[in-house]
Amino acid sequence: MKVTIYEVGPRDGLQNEDVTLPVEVKRELIERLAEAGLRTIEATSFVHPKWVPQLADAEELLDGLPRADGVRYPVLVPNERGLDRALEHGVTDIAIFGSATESFAQRNLNRTVDSQFDMFAPVVERALANGLRVRAYVSMCFADPWEGPVAPEQVVSVGRRLLDLGCYELSLGDTIGIGTPRHVEALLDAFPADGIGPERLAVHFHDTYGQALANTLTALRKGVTVVDASAGGIGGCPYARSATGNLATEDLVWMLDGLGVETGVNLRSLVATSLWLAGKLGRPSPSRVVQALAKEM
Ligand code: HMG
Ligand code: MG
Repeated sequence: MKVTIYEVGPRDGLQNEDVTLPVEVKRELIERLAEAGLRTIEATSFVHPKWVPQLADAEELLDGLPRADGVRYPVLVPNERGLDRALEHGVTDIAIFGSATESFAQRNLNRTVDSQFDMFAPVVERALANGLRVRAYVSMCFADPWEGPVAPEQVVSVGRRLLDLGCYELSLGDTIGIGTPRHVEALLDAFPADGIGPERLAVHFHDTYGQALANTLTALRKGVTVVDASAGGIGGCPYARSATGNLATEDLVWMLDGLGVETGVNLRSLVATSLWLAGKLGRPSPSRVVQALAKEM
């Protein structure tokens, strides 16, 4: 079995840190992640700079970013203005990000669930015409802080519409980290009825309640092979109360190594990067594996 790690630290991680890192530190982070063996590194977002000031330097970051062979550097793009900016700066992979709930669609995108598709449709169409690859996120797949539990059918219906636009993969976001393995099973079991198999799905767990690793293992057992994670477990979403960091990439790699699953990631080099990053952010990494291995380094 092979698992692809989709590293989101430079985007999902840094978007929710109080400290805005200088652009050269972000570049060094991305370079170090590539050197540690990560092959997909979500680099930044072309969203409104006032909405996410931590990533307002997206153009400058990409312009000076040395690209490593075989590494993809996707960016978040919500609308055509974002796509224009991304195209001007050599982007080849983008991700749109939809919401399964009305409350989060409003807060994160200033749109309704229905009208988010009007915003995304021309983005995907033009991106595909320009030869880009387009991934789609669905947020609030298990519950939403304002609306409570979210029915799997609601997520499948939003996911189906995103795939139908032409996206190659759906990343299922537990934005507030509230799900448990039972929820994950129920959600993944709801997709095949709509003709969507696990090869089109990725999982994106935030670790608010410490369930991210258990949820990931559940998803792997259900046939999902793409897992989102952030180095050192940094991050969250500024528009969702109680969203903490993602599943830490180190915790994921430790588990996969133990399962005999090849990832191509050098764990020690990744831990060294997260310790360096913690110094820049002025707070320790929440990852248990980083904390454990730090004592030996
Ligand atoms: P809006 O206010 O509705 O935008 O925001 P608008 O279309 O009305 O435009 C208003 C002004 O903003 C215009 O300028 C536009 O040009 C400008 P004016 O004409 O007034 O001078 N503008 C832009 N400028 C730069 N870049 C752009 C852009 N778009 C418009 N892309 C919008 C709509 C989508 C832009 C806004 O809501 C937004 O930026 N939202 C992004 C929020 C965000 O980044 N959230 C975090 C990422 S999602 C996440 O973390 C979840 C995830 O990890 C999965 C999970 O965990 O569940 C992915
Ligand atoms: Mg997220």
